[in-house]
Amino acid sequence: MSLEFSPDAQKKIAALCERYLVSGTKKPVVMAALHLAQKEFGHLSEDALRLVATTLDLPYAHVYGVATFYTMYRLEPSGKTTIRMCTNISCMMRGGYEVLAAFEQKLGVKKGGTTSNKQLTLVEEECIAACANAPCAVVGTKYFLDITPEQVGKIVADLEAHPSPESEVV
Ligand code: FES
Repeated sequence: MSLEFSPDAQKKIAALCERYLVSGTKKPVVMAALHLAQKEFGHLSEDALRLVATTLDLPYAHVYGVATFYTMYRLEPSGKTTIRMCTNISCMMRGGYEVLAAFEQKLGVKKGGTTSNKQLTLVEEECIAACANAPCAVVGTKYFLDITPEQVGKIVADLEAHPSPESEVV
């Protein structure tokens, strides 16, 4: 394994382990450590997952299971910023697929694809818990609510001018 966390990430993980020490396991730190690994290495390669497992003294299978369950973790290389467009039931009924199509057209990629400059990746997402404002998308930790296809051009232009960091969570 060749990857290592930066000193800053190591410090954050150590602080989190200390905070959750009472639980007797480092499992509560897995998601935060995965966010940090994704932020540091761009995506969660097998080496990155093994680093998280080793750092937290947990089985690789547990870390792999968490990383593959949640869609905010990227197991493959992608753009700096991911646009997660919801097409679940509420968003679907209020035009989510039309907005997704507008993103595909504006970005020149199909869902799952990354723009040629490696800046933006478009993902079709399940419910992102903002159903009252369907259709919606989330970029990093920023939500775009009540989106119409006509707004997509401005959203993409703003993202290109001011990329939304992926890992603001930790
Ligand atoms: S269905 Fe889209 S946010 Fe819930």
